[in-house]
This record gives sequence, structure tokens and C-alpha cells, in this order.
Amino acid sequence: MSSIESNVTETRVFPPADAVVKKATISGMAAYEALCKEADQDYAGFWARLAREHVSWKQPFTKSLDESKAPFYEWFADGKLNVSYNCLDRNIEAGLGDKVAIIFEADGGQVSKITYKELLVRVARFANALKAQGIKKGDRVLIYMPMSVEGVVAMQACARIGAIHSVVFGGFSAKSVQERIQDAGAVAVITSDEQCRGGKNIPLKPAVDDGIAMGGCESIKTVIVFKRTGGPCNMVAGRDIWWEDATAGQSDVCEPEWVGAEHPLFLLYTSGSTGKPKGVQHSSGGYLLHAILTMKWTFDIKPDDVFWCTADIGWVTGHTYITYGPLACGATEIVFEGVPTYPDAGRFWKTIEKHKVNIFYTAPTAIRSLIKAGENAPTTHPKNFDLSSLRILGSVGEPINPEAWMWYYNNVGGARCPIVDTFWQTETGGHMITPLPGATPLVPGSCTLPFPGIAAAIVDETGNDVEWGKGGFLVVKKPWPAMIRTIYGDPERYKKSYFPVDFGGNLYLAGDGAMRDAKTGYFTIMGRIDDVLNVSGHRMGTMEIESALVSNPLVAEAAVVGRPDDLTGEAICAFVVLKQARPTAEEAKKIANELRNWVGKEIGPIAKPKDIRFGENLPKTRSGKIMRRLLRSLAKGEEITQDVSTLENPGILDQLKQNA
Ligand code: WTA
Repeated sequence: MSSIESNVTETRVFPPADAVVKKATISGMAAYEALCKEADQDYAGFWARLAREHVSWKQPFTKSLDESKAPFYEWFADGKLNVSYNCLDRNIEAGLGDKVAIIFEADGGQVSKITYKELLVRVARFANALKAQGIKKGDRVLIYMPMSVEGVVAMQACARIGAIHSVVFGGFSAKSVQERIQDAGAVAVITSDEQCRGGKNIPLKPAVDDGIAMGGCESIKTVIVFKRTGGPCNMVAGRDIWWEDATAGQSDVCEPEWVGAEHPLFLLYTSGSTGKPKGVQHSSGGYLLHAILTMKWTFDIKPDDVFWCTADIGWVTGHTYITYGPLACGATEIVFEGVPTYPDAGRFWKTIEKHKVNIFYTAPTAIRSLIKAGENAPTTHPKNFDLSSLRILGSVGEPINPEAWMWYYNNVGGARCPIVDTFWQTETGGHMITPLPGATPLVPGSCTLPFPGIAAAIVDETGNDVEWGKGGFLVVKKPWPAMIRTIYGDPERYKKSYFPVDFGGNLYLAGDGAMRDAKTGYFTIMGRIDDVLNVSGHRMGTMEIESALVSNPLVAEAAVVGRPDDLTGEAICAFVVLKQARPTAEEAKKIANELRNWVGKEIGPIAKPKDIRFGENLPKTRSGKIMRRLLRSLAKGEEITQDVSTLENPGILDQLKQNA
């Protein structure tokens, strides 16, 4: 774990420049500390004050936090609001109707712009279309869409009528679509014919058809299909309807459905340590509050800013920092359809130059891959572009190694722009530990300090605080408004996963290891402590990949671990026992490819193992337990120095050293 050690030993400090401090909403450390103190003294009152100031309520709430059903916490529960009203109507009422809400940058570089007024019309018409299809408040709607204005419209339209969306990343397989439809009991799917990525048109709709055809999806009554490319697309009579037909003749006006603050805004499936992906359920009021506050405090968004978050709407980052946060703040944002390397690796920088982006938010993997690309193709290096519009940079999804941080800081930010390294999770709704750009001195590789009001701490396995300078489990000691409400349909799993009794039952367990700097108290995230991998910032459960592998008829047994990878952070390494005899080297290559494609079909291409190794068995203790720590060492290519005396079959370690 060399990158993590270098994160922990990092000593460079970058205080915010005076010019940044002066203009910032949270200006200077004293302002940050004052907010923390306010939260400390009256926790529920702190959040209530902010919820009143930043969210528009149809009916004001009278109670801030309700802990009576802990850990099923409720916030602002008797307040009523509508999230889409907060993102659209209220901006128009404030005079921003003609302001550009979204600049859409298509894969091929075509640009279209849409104002707040126009966006509201599109959301209202689509919301009416959903209602005309019989979709109503509380219904679950699966969204399987490419990056597009329509993807945002679909989400906002669900919010407008109180339907609960569940967005599935367009890279997930038909089987994943089926599982999520079933788990959520979704009544409709919104999808598109194809998606455009890197100059290619890739069919999307067939995965919906195949997923539904796999069975158990009788809840689906309607499939609405947006025509992205006009490519071949099968339509099922009586079930499928084109977006344009569904919206034709619908009114431009749709009264928002006023919902209670706790009404679920969305489900988003994410990987956990065991079993199938879990449907993380978020609220309307608390979630929206945190989306807004983090836009204002972490990104210091200002009225004239152009904001760009490069995430996909299929991930939580796209939910909070594309669909909801920027719009709720009346910002102008970029929605980007393409990939960072098409037509070449200068695409991000060119797009920043073209649209004069002020705030840019991306993932360490993207930065690392562009560093490499810039070395191989010097014309794509950021120095060839005018990036002077940039004011603030952000990083999310995985630890950023100090080398990548420095490169980002110097080459993209011109040593002028603070980098906010934002630690958070699907479950947390928004940023949890992050610098505030006009306050926090930066240390490369550290996400620094908790967002005001977030009671982040590090504890040992019994839930007791550990000293600064020592590693432990990252927890949050108090509930916060944007936190996960439950796992859809499985409240017990919610309790067990996030509030385990070993830790006292009242601490939110993030699932990450972390430590605080002995002097400054700055947090460094050391990575997941459970069986969750982080590949290019995408969360994958080792169990999910294992069960995909063993469902292949050739496979008898499989174990999956992560290993460090320079580019993707972690890489997936699978150890496989076949039903047949151990394959020859040549056979092994063929079978490995077959298995990769199989996993691609079962879960999605992002879950394909990079390394596959075949053995006659897996290293097991005499009681039959797979020794994963040995597999981790093997995956890394380390010499095995551990005690292997408890191993039933030490001979197979040699077999498992070789990649297929
Ligand atoms: C990791 C993405 C280090 C972490 C928003 C977490 C990070 C998981 C950071 C959540 C960061 C996210 N530094 N690690 N700044 N941000 N992580 O649910 O392991 O897709 O638990 O949410 O990503 O991934 P998720």
C-alpha cells in the first residue's frame, strides 16, 4: 500500500490564497470553526437553521431531528416541500428564468444550452407524461439513460410527481437491470435507444428488454424510450413508448407534488460486503439541504460560475452534483456525454477552455489516466489550453495520491486553485470530510476536516476513540440530514451494515479505514475495510463478482480480491478453480477471456477481473476457510512470508502466482 503510506507521511501544506479567502462564502478557518462550534452547541438547531435558510418549504417543519426510532432517524419530518420546485421554479421566481441551467456537451462536441425556464417546461411535460402513464407518488421508476439533458429531466420529473427514481448506470448489464427492477418493484423504465461514447453508438435498450425477459419483472407496465441516435430499436407493443410520443400534447405546467421531508427521493443501488447490491434510500428534505450546502460551502458556488462535475448520473456523485445540487443553487452546469479520451486526452481541458468552467470536479482515476496520456501525446497536456477560468478543483471517489494531487494542482489549477478532496459515499448523500476552499490549508492526499456538523471520528473495533496518529474505523457519531434512511425493503440489513452492535449500535460505520494526523487532526482515508473494492472510483463487492464467476458452468470455486493498481487505484484479481483439470497456459488464456466476458454480462464491463489465476484449489485452512490475506499477497506479487502452517494445501500457492 505504498500510495497510502505516502499519503500519511505527506508534509506539504498549501494555505488558501488571500484572494480566494476574501471572496469565499466560508472565509477563513475562524468562520469554519464557528460553524463547527454552533453545531456542537445545538446540533438539531444548527441543521434546522440551515434548512430554513437554504431550502424552500411549502409547509415549514416544526421539529428538526427525531431520534425516537434510531437508527431510523428523521429530519424536518412535518415539513413539506418539492425538490424539483427547489431546483427549478424557485430560481425562475428569483429572476433566473433566462439563465442557462445546462450546457450539454455531446460526445461529438456538439453543444446545446437550455435555460431554467426551458428546463422547467421539459420537466413539467415529462412529469405530466409520467402521470399519463399511470405513474404516481411513491412508485419506483428505473432510469437507465446515457448522460443527457433528458436523464436529468427524467430524474427531476420523478421528483416533481413524488415518484422514487432508481438510476442504473448505463454500463451495468441486463441482469443488473433485472435485479434492480425486482428489488425495487419498479413500475416503469426510462431508457434510450443507444448511447454515444467515444465516437461509437452503443445499444442501451436491449439490456432493458433482456433484463425484463429474464423474468420476475411483471411490475413493469411502461418503458419510455428516448431517441438518442435513432439507431435500430425494438419496441414492445403495449409496453414501450417513445419519449416524444409520451410527451406529445402534454401541458407545460405541472403542479409539484408536495411531499413530506422524509418522502424518499430516490433509491440508488450500491455494493456492500455481502450478497446483492443494496438499494440505498434517500430522503427529500435532508438530502436536498446537504446538496445545497455543499455546493455553497465546498464548491463556493457563485452566481456567475460555470460548474462541471464529470460523474455519470448513474452514480451518487451525478445525483448530488449534477441533477440536484447545482440546479438547486441556480447554477450553470455542464452535462458531458463523452469520455475523457475522445477525440483525444485533451477533451476535458478543451471543454474547460470552451465553456470557461470555474469549478471542475472529477475523479483521481481520470486525472491519473490523463497524466499518462499527456506524456504520450504532449498536445493533450493541459498547458496547451487556457484554463485561467478555473477557480476551484475537486476530487472524489477514491484516495488521491500526492503525485496526482500535485499534478492536478500545478498543471490544471495553475497552482492557484484549491483542490477540495471530498470524502463521501452513496450512503452519505453529500460531502462528509472535505476542505472548504477559502478556509482549510490543504495537504495533498488528505481530505482534511469534517464538513461543519458532521461528527466524523475514528474508533477501534469496540467503538472507542483512537488517538490521533493511529489508524482505525471511520465512523460518524451523530445522524446528519442527508444520511441514508434505510436499505430499501431490508431495514435489518441497514441496521447491521451501518450501525453494528459491536460498535455500540449508535455509530454510523462508513466501511473505510482512516487515520488522523497526530498534529493537525487531518483525516486520511486508507481504503475499505470490508469486502468492497474501489476500481476507478467504482464500488464493487468481491462477493458479487465471485457469485458471477461461480455461476459459470466451467467454474467450481472462485475468490476475488483487490490489488493496488497505479491507474485504477485497485484492480480486480480472481482466483478460480475450474471443474475440469487445471488448464494449460494456452487454454487458461482462452478460458480467462471467456470468464471476463461472462462477468461483463452478469454485472457489467467495469466488474471484469483484470487478473485471473487458475489453481486446483484455493488456499484454505484445515477448517475450509479461504485465506484471503494470502490471496491478497499473491495478487500483489509479494513473497509469502506469512505463516502457512495452518494451510491445508500449501502446494497450490505456487500455482496461483501466475496470471492467465
Ligand atoms: C471511497 C462515491 C478517499 C471510500 C462518492 C468510500 C474516497 C467509497 C473518497 C464510496 C475520497 C470516496 N478519498 N476515498 N475523497 N471519496 N471514497 O458510494 O472508500 O461510490 O467508502 O461514493 O469511495 O463510494 P461511493
